[in-house]
Amino acid sequence: VEQTYIMLKPDAIQRQLMGEIISRIERKGYQIVQAKLMDLDSEIIANHYAHLLEQNFYPKLEAYMLSGPVFAMIVEGEEAIQGMRTLMGPTNVFEAMPGTIRGDFATDLTYNTIHGSDSPEAAEIEIKRFFG
Ligand code: GTP
Ligand code: MG
Repeated sequence: VEQTYIMLKPDAIQRQLMGEIISRIERKGYQIVQAKLMDLDSEIIANHYAHLLEQNFYPKLEAYMLSGPVFAMIVEGEEAIQGMRTLMGPTNVFEAMPGTIRGDFATDLTYNTIHGSDSPEAAEIEIKRFFG
């Protein structure tokens, strides 16, 4: 059984999509073992997106992640890391198929609704980062 860090981004909360997305995660069969609504600051965003600090879109990404609360979750299940990435659809929302979270709810490269850890190493670090 694997744990992954999932975060509903500010657009998901503002658009009142939390229930819909959580329901998809539950229907898939994963357990939500911890969850909290939280406001991020620039420091935690810079740590989380350290690989993107030099990108020209970073200021827009930071402003997005500061624009309202996120809903942070630890999601548990068999192969949950890859499974959640599949449920979410690819980062590039234009490639995300209908039926995926990003495919159904996102139309913009920045405002893509949800985050999920992309490896076991990332999951461990991100769970520590957001849940201590
Ligand atoms: P996360 O699950 O949020 O980490 O996304 P990811 O792992 O699918 O992608 P990545 O870590 O590479 O990018 C993090 C976030 O930066 C994305 O989810 C987008 O919000 C934003 N982002 C990534 N690539 C681009 C891009 O090319 N243009 C813009 N505008 N935003 C991007
Ligand atoms: Mg990422």
